[in-house]
Amino acid sequence: MSAGTMKLKLRVWRQKNGNTPGKMIDYLAEDVSPDMSFLEMLDVVNEKLEAKGDEPIAFDHDCREGICGTCSLVIDGQAHGPIPGVTTCQLHMRSFRDGQEVTIEPFRAAAFPVVKDLVVNRGAFDKVVAAGGFVSVRTGGTPDGNAIPISKEEADLSMDAAACIGCGACVAACPNASAMLFVGAQISKYKHLPQGQVERTSRANGMIAEMDAQGFGNCTNHRECEAVCPKEIPIRVIAELNREFIRAKSKGKRVAGKSDGA
Ligand code: SF4
Ligand code: FES
Repeated sequence: MSAGTMKLKLRVWRQKNGNTPGKMIDYLAEDVSPDMSFLEMLDVVNEKLEAKGDEPIAFDHDCREGICGTCSLVIDGQAHGPIPGVTTCQLHMRSFRDGQEVTIEPFRAAAFPVVKDLVVNRGAFDKVVAAGGFVSVRTGGTPDGNAIPISKEEADLSMDAAACIGCGACVAACPNASAMLFVGAQISKYKHLPQGQVERTSRANGMIAEMDAQGFGNCTNHRECEAVCPKEIPIRVIAELNREFIRAKSKGKRVAGKSDGA
């Protein structure tokens, strides 16, 4: 071991594909700098595996800057690892001890099937978003949008929810594999803006129906989602989601053709 570097024993979930059973395999991570990110540590392990002609460990990543939401790992039982408010790619090895044993698993949820090793398919989130997580009406150019007055309080509530990066840690941490923190964030970010009002009812109906169809569970107030969310999305968005659901159901009983409104 070079001076100042760490050595860790990794227990890693290896699974060839979704049809093959997986198992934990032990690896030694050597020459790990405390300044490396967790993914850079896995890169070092993979370089050594490839040099020996072994199959590298498959894991998801893209931006490595905490913004894309793809680095989906459960580290020692916690989605995104032990440090609150950070993604796996922003987690540094100085958060671990030299010689520590670290267990690495994929996000486990029926709606997120394993593709290979630590990679899961989170396409169910895309389907939920496609069912209403957008604004399709013309809102004009940037000056038009900025001409609509929005109170600071409402803008802050919307921006807090818009911080969601769709990583799926909330689902992985929930004993019910509920996606309600994620869906609540998508609904909340539009609910607090004037542009989100036109499709407010159809958005809630569509996204909630698709969330159920994709096999996500319901919230039973464990608050694990809030605890692991790397963007610290508050659980109040689930309360907002529930209110939007009730509102959409009551609107659904109204005479067809009546304006949705705010
Ligand atoms: S709510 Fe948080 S944990 Fe869930 S997908 Fe969004 S950023 Fe990830
Ligand atoms: S790789 Fe993009 S958020 Fe981690």
